[in-house]
Amino acid sequence: MCPPEHFRVTYSINPWMDPSKPVDLPLALAQWEQLRDRYRALGHTVHVLDPLPGLPDMVYAANGATVVEGRVLGARFAHRERSGEAAAHRDWYRAHGYRDLVEPEHINEGEGDFAVTASWLLAGRGFRSSPLSHGEAQEFFGRPVLGLDLVDPRYYHLDTALCVLDAERDDVMYYPPAFSPGSQAVLRRLFPDALVAEEPDALALGLNAVSDGHHVLLPQAAAGLFGPLRERGYEPVPVDLTELLKGGGSVKCVTAELR
Ligand code: ARG
Repeated sequence: MCPPEHFRVTYSINPWMDPSKPVDLPLALAQWEQLRDRYRALGHTVHVLDPLPGLPDMVYAANGATVVEGRVLGARFAHRERSGEAAAHRDWYRAHGYRDLVEPEHINEGEGDFAVTASWLLAGRGFRSSPLSHGEAQEFFGRPVLGLDLVDPRYYHLDTALCVLDAERDDVMYYPPAFSPGSQAVLRRLFPDALVAEEPDALALGLNAVSDGHHVLLPQAAAGLFGPLRERGYEPVPVDLTELLKGGGSVKCVTAELR
């Protein structure tokens, strides 16, 4: 995770970002700290990446790389405003002993568009990550990549529309209208028992959640997901990240998972 010390909305690269809306920086920091402390209280280890001035979106740490079985596929950002973040992430991995690390050739925004299950590397495309990055990820990780077409600019990254609840069991939740009709059909075929989200919860970025296989940390406004999650045996853990919603992200966007 990377603290939102330099978080601002000074440009707009997704429909959630309105530079005329003020950001309450102390509140953003307090909300971020609450999430970090929540992870720690649940027994998870949280490493902190130093934020850099001039990179206001760096708080969205999920975009900096994808890590599977200790192998790191670095990111290459679609927008120049964020391009400086990629090297900061790569430096962190190097400094922390990750040897198997590549700088990608094609644009990919890390876990924003890559989601890992036991069987698949689910990969979003349409707004940010290049379809060419899917082949690159498949070659690097040796895992079958499944490309999914995102069609609604509000759900510009895969992780705004789909969340892996239990990687081992290939269990996911997702919001169908964020995907093309063909990708919706693919998702129904692969995940017939998935939790299908409704619009109000998707609009609260409820799919932008992090699950450890039992606890599901998600935006508190996505209350419509709590009941269905409990019915499936998960424990919803609501968190308040409203200030970071102003940049177009929530729980998952600010969390890079070290697999
Ligand atoms: N403002 C950032 C952007 O548009 C938000 C990134 C959100 N991250 C994510 N994993 N969806 O790039």
